Amino acid sequence: MAGRGSNVVLGARRGDRVEQLGAELRHNGGRAVGVPTDVRRRENLVRLVDTAVSGFGRLDALVDNAGTGPVSPLEDLRVDEWDDMIDVNLRGVLHGIAAALPVFRRQEAGHFVMVASAAAYRTVPGQAVHSATKTAVRTVCDGLRQEVGDLRVTIVSPGFVHTDFVNTVVGPETRAAPLVRRDADTGSL
Ligand SMILES: NC(=O)c1ccc[n+]([C@@H]2O[C@H](COP(=O)([O-])OP(=O)(O)OC[C@H]3O[C@@H](n4cnc5c(N)ncnc54)[C@H](OP(=O)(O)O)[C@@H]3O)[C@@H](O)[C@H]2O)c1
Repeated sequence: MAGRGSNVVLGARRGDRVEQLGAELRHNGGRAVGVPTDVRRRENLVRLVDTAVSGFGRLDALVDNAGTGPVSPLEDLRVDEWDDMIDVNLRGVLHGIAAALPVFRRQEAGHFVMVASAAAYRTVPGQAVHSATKTAVRTVCDGLRQEVGDLRVTIVSPGFVHTDFVNTVVGPETRAAPLVRRDADTGSL
């Protein structure tokens, strides 16, 4: 997007990486800035949106991409992982809406782009909580779209893509377990 002339504000927890990426984009002629951001913290999303508005004058689109999806059967009771999926995948999206919606309303324009998953449409063993969070994101987006009139809402639901996500999904102890597999129909993990 920076290469196509957009002003880009990047957020992720590893601030050194987003700041370095922002510097690389600027070096290549783009306008970009990296801001350390944890989507679990509402005030971090406010800061991210403020950075766009104060630095570039407006916010045209918010891409809510952060997500996590460790695989485990419910009976393993990995409650901390369940909580984190809810906090990142669902609360993170809600924090993005809370930060950007007032700006979009003021501008009378804006585009929410939410990254859900094929798992929002179908679950498999080991993915119940992950699917639940992504289904919730889909539901929130449906409601948002119905409420916001001329603002735009797009939901993106990828199947399996070999990114760093795979390392967060599959811990070493579950790597060989039969429930860790690509779903043949949806391509979801
Ligand atoms: N890869 C797949 O097969 C697949 C399939 C379906 C859906 N998806 C969805 O696609 C989206 C992107 O996934 P990906 O495959 O690109 O994963 P990824 O390579 O692991 O990238 C995830 C990104 O989110 C950031 N992030 C994670 N937790 C965060 C937090 N609490 N606050 C802010 N940023 C955070 C990470 O940076 P930091 O760690 O530095 O914060 C990283 O930049 C996710 O929502 C995922 O659920 C992926």
